[in-house]
Amino acid sequence: MDVRFERSEQTTVEWLTPPELVKKLGTFDLDPCTPIHPPFVHAKHNYSIHDNGLQQPWFGRVYLNPPYGKGMEKWLEKLKIHGNGIALIFARTETKCFFDHIWHDAHAVLFVKGRIKFYTVSGVQGGTPGAPSVFIAYGEENATLLKNAGIAGKYLNLK
Ligand SMILES: C[S@@+](CC[C@H](N)C(=O)[O-])C[C@H]1O[C@@H](n2cnc3c(N)ncnc32)[C@H](O)[C@@H]1O
Repeated sequence: MDVRFERSEQTTVEWLTPPELVKKLGTFDLDPCTPIHPPFVHAKHNYSIHDNGLQQPWFGRVYLNPPYGKGMEKWLEKLKIHGNGIALIFARTETKCFFDHIWHDAHAVLFVKGRIKFYTVSGVQGGTPGAPSVFIAYGEENATLLKNAGIAGKYLNLK
């Protein structure tokens, strides 16, 4: 693997979604991967690395911005099986993850206009990331909420 690519992937692990963006998507029951000491939360229930959110039961409406890099695919696979939630990942549309868990399984996607400036665990907004982002909705209700969220970008129905 290209070392620069690997390094840049690893540095994104603790980048948090701007809370004002998640609020536009409605109320979430679970965020299965949050920092140990989050400056803010996006859902009523939260799992950290101490719980290992991948091994826990998922319930209700899930907001998923997974740890990027190696292993990210497993989080998308779990959300696909759960079938109720919205994910946010980099728009690497050519990848195995997209073809195995998104293009044929998700209900809708929204390619975000511009770049999302993520937050650090200190609650400070960072700079411009090196890739564009996409929201992915599983379940019809989530597709509708994504469509009507008022987030600038290109919405596509996949079902
Ligand atoms: C990209 S950040 C997103 C955080 C939060 N979901 C958000 O959108 O603001 C991914 C988070 O997953 C956490 N994490 C990593 N491995 C985990 C695991 N096995 N179980 C739960 N959380 C994990 C990291 O500590 C990090 O805070």
